[in-house]
Amino acid sequence: MIVIMKILAVGDVVGRRSIEYLSKTLRRTAASLGADLVVVNGENASEIHGLCKADAQALLDAGADLITLGNHAFGSRDLYGFLDDNTDVVIRPANYPAACPGVGCTLRRVNGLRVLCMNLSGTAFMEQLDNPFVAADRLLEREKGEYDIALLDFHGEATSEKLAMGFHLDGRVQIVFGTHTHVPTADTRILPAGTGYVTDLGMTGPTNGILGTDAEAVLYKMRTRMPVRFTVADGPIEAQAVLFTLEDTKPHRCVKVERVTF
Ligand SMILES: [Fe+2]
Repeated sequence: MIVIMKILAVGDVVGRRSIEYLSKTLRRTAASLGADLVVVNGENASEIHGLCKADAQALLDAGADLITLGNHAFGSRDLYGFLDDNTDVVIRPANYPAACPGVGCTLRRVNGLRVLCMNLSGTAFMEQLDNPFVAADRLLEREKGEYDIALLDFHGEATSEKLAMGFHLDGRVQIVFGTHTHVPTADTRILPAGTGYVTDLGMTGPTNGILGTDAEAVLYKMRTRMPVRFTVADGPIEAQAVLFTLEDTKPHRCVKVERVTF
């Protein structure tokens, strides 16, 4: 079989130092892996709670072809216009109310194929948005016949909900990957009907903090339950990502799911 596409999905970028890190490493890594499309979750890139317009542009300049978001999608007001004006390069969870800025899915053309890229938020231990399973069905039905390949960034807290989404979409989309927890899971796999899956990509951020956040601040909060301002941790940064390889079957299938750390 012929490889038709490789898609690199990069875990949640935590803080501006991590954007700088990607600006030095992402293009080179994507090229060496032969990635045709690079998807980066950027919702924590502007110092944890959100993404501002300048940092969205910096992620694109660093080599992200598409930015996905999550529960902090609307953390920076200055991104609202950018979300509406750049729906081909940045998407937010589709199960937010329709009145919110931006869109929840976009069509990209890669290697002559139409790739439907979707973003949804989980609702287990998260904000009570529209049912993401119903929202996924609705998106696929709406875009029926318009795409050759489909992928989903499912931004969720609960491993069970993310795995359930993988099975819900198994055989109907090529790729489902989870984001949000900042902890890379060891379950890269092909689901029974052929969907490439991982519960969580992990993060792009400082490894000696707690989920990328300064450990002292988090520990203060845990010990005292007092309000505290979280900051991004110092120290070395690592990018945690997953590479999905698709082959020219009918329908196109994901045949390999590999962890990539750089
Ligand atoms: Fe998140």
